[in-house]
Amino acid sequence: MPNDATPLDAPEQITFPPYLVNDRLRTFIRETVELTRPAAVVFCDGSLAEYDRLCQDLVDRGTFLRLNPLLRPRSFLARSDPGDVARVEDRTYICTTDPLDAGPTNNWVEPEQMRQTLRGLFRGCMRGRTLYVVPFSMGPLDSPLAQLGVELTDSAYVADGMRLMTRMGREVVEALGHDGAFVPCLHSVGAPLARGEPDVAWPCNADDKYIVHFPEDPSIWSYGSGYGGNALLGKKCLALRIASVLGRREGWLAEHMLILGVEAPDGHKSFVAAAFPSACGKTNFAMLIPPQRLSDWKVTTIGDDIAWIKPGPDGRLRAINPEFGFFGVAPGTSLRSNPNAMAMLASDCIFTNVALTPDGDVWWEDMTETPPPALLDWRGEPWTPDSGRKAAHPNARFTLPLQRSACLDPRWDDPAGVPIDAFIFGGRRSDMMPLVVEAEGWTEGVYLAATLGSETTAAATAKVGQVRRDPFAMLPFCGYHMGDYFAHWLRQREGLAQVPRIFGVNWFRKDPTGRFLWPGYRENLRVLAWIVDRCRNRAQGSNGPLGVEPRYEDLCWDGLEEVTPAQFEQMMDIDREAWLAEVAAHGELFAQLGARLPEELASRRVALRTALTAAPAHWVPGDA
Ligand code: OXD
Ligand code: MN
Repeated sequence: MPNDATPLDAPEQITFPPYLVNDRLRTFIRETVELTRPAAVVFCDGSLAEYDRLCQDLVDRGTFLRLNPLLRPRSFLARSDPGDVARVEDRTYICTTDPLDAGPTNNWVEPEQMRQTLRGLFRGCMRGRTLYVVPFSMGPLDSPLAQLGVELTDSAYVADGMRLMTRMGREVVEALGHDGAFVPCLHSVGAPLARGEPDVAWPCNADDKYIVHFPEDPSIWSYGSGYGGNALLGKKCLALRIASVLGRREGWLAEHMLILGVEAPDGHKSFVAAAFPSACGKTNFAMLIPPQRLSDWKVTTIGDDIAWIKPGPDGRLRAINPEFGFFGVAPGTSLRSNPNAMAMLASDCIFTNVALTPDGDVWWEDMTETPPPALLDWRGEPWTPDSGRKAAHPNARFTLPLQRSACLDPRWDDPAGVPIDAFIFGGRRSDMMPLVVEAEGWTEGVYLAATLGSETTAAATAKVGQVRRDPFAMLPFCGYHMGDYFAHWLRQREGLAQVPRIFGVNWFRKDPTGRFLWPGYRENLRVLAWIVDRCRNRAQGSNGPLGVEPRYEDLCWDGLEEVTPAQFEQMMDIDREAWLAEVAAHGELFAQLGARLPEELASRRVALRTALTAAPAHWVPGDA
């Protein structure tokens, strides 16, 4: 038991810290103790001393391995249970009174029935464990957009992770005062310990996992997993699924988007929010370092995963990153793909499910061109490059505070948020989707985002390479009916003094031999530069069936002469037949949404089909 824990035999024995005066919070804690029967309770204050204590505790219990302090100071490796390595979308529920409010893209169970199931699972589920009270704010505490939550969890790993990923601690409880509102978030690994029973390094429940949202309360219950978005409840659960519902009610947007700042050579600063499905390189894009010949451009990071966006008093959409840290995918992160991330990962980081080197450092696929000759893999088994399996789990993660990043935007913590000039939507498509296209207007842009599709990767599913429709990259994260969500987006334009432009991008198009056509990574700056220049009416383009695309001469190629105009044409080509089939596939998504599909999007689909039917078999920018 941690030395700051209060041992507990009954809820009446809880000694609340004097600053915890919120009645609802006291009741939430008491009722949880009564239901789950933990052996002790710890009130997290968010201090560094507490974080260090929790880390040491996790080392002592075998959950954490302290990495070599000379190579990775103040950093740890956690190895999860092999059955608890990713978000569990099929165990994720939106429980609304009317199933139509959850919509056809979410799992739904009637709320009272789900509460009964959960009460059964949670009864006594924390026996032998410590309950951590984790108060947190999503967004700067003084932001009008901030939402407060309190997570009660029996996982020290989660309490630690919440300190890195959210603004966590005593100030949040003080801000709640006597009657402030918060979102109650209850989490258990679902692995009670009998008296004297030794714990395992990664407790979780092999049989039952439930990630449940009650948007009407709102509240969150999570059972059986200790991993990532299943357990760090501020992230996907609160900041996306619950917040999307609150946003709809209150007139704002909770989006699965990175936010970045771009400074042009003339000093003009633009802000962009970009949505990509999981495993499309969001963190890399958010931290992009411009190519050498374009080093008079500068990119700064505000967030890499979630944006909350609301019209400001100036009539512009303003965005904050509600998170406080990065929970990024480690494999693929390298000096080539993301030198900024490699620098920030040098210390003060929790790694989960990466490989361990003999000298106590971490490694993952593609971190170096040549893998080390011998490692312990993510399960702790000996590994060599010819062992025929991955050393790190494809969904292995790093967790650390935003402030560790050297490219953080000076306004990352601005309670008023930053004004958004452009939205970018991108998927992973090996064919037909152009490198970049600007939607003609808001409705066309919402259509582009609503029909976003991406080829699945090994990180998400066993069925690799199939196009999964992922509207706004929100399919697993929208807490209500997707048709209502589209309508909410269409409405957002109303009353804005400046409407952001909307763009589609695709870094992943391949030639017929299977080679990527676009070099990606830092070269993506060339596309970003065109996008922000379009917003400033400084860049040209050519009107095509999907919208405006740059011609070869509209992008800057300085230092990238190896991409020939012919290759560029291949990246931009609109293949009429392939696109007509694509638009038919959009219809399948729309049919699923039934009567809640906004009429504007149905009409846009018809207009797009008409434009494509009239287009040449292959259209490239510059064609009339
Ligand atoms: C994430 C995801 O973990 O989108 O950010 O899956
Ligand atoms: Mn994400």
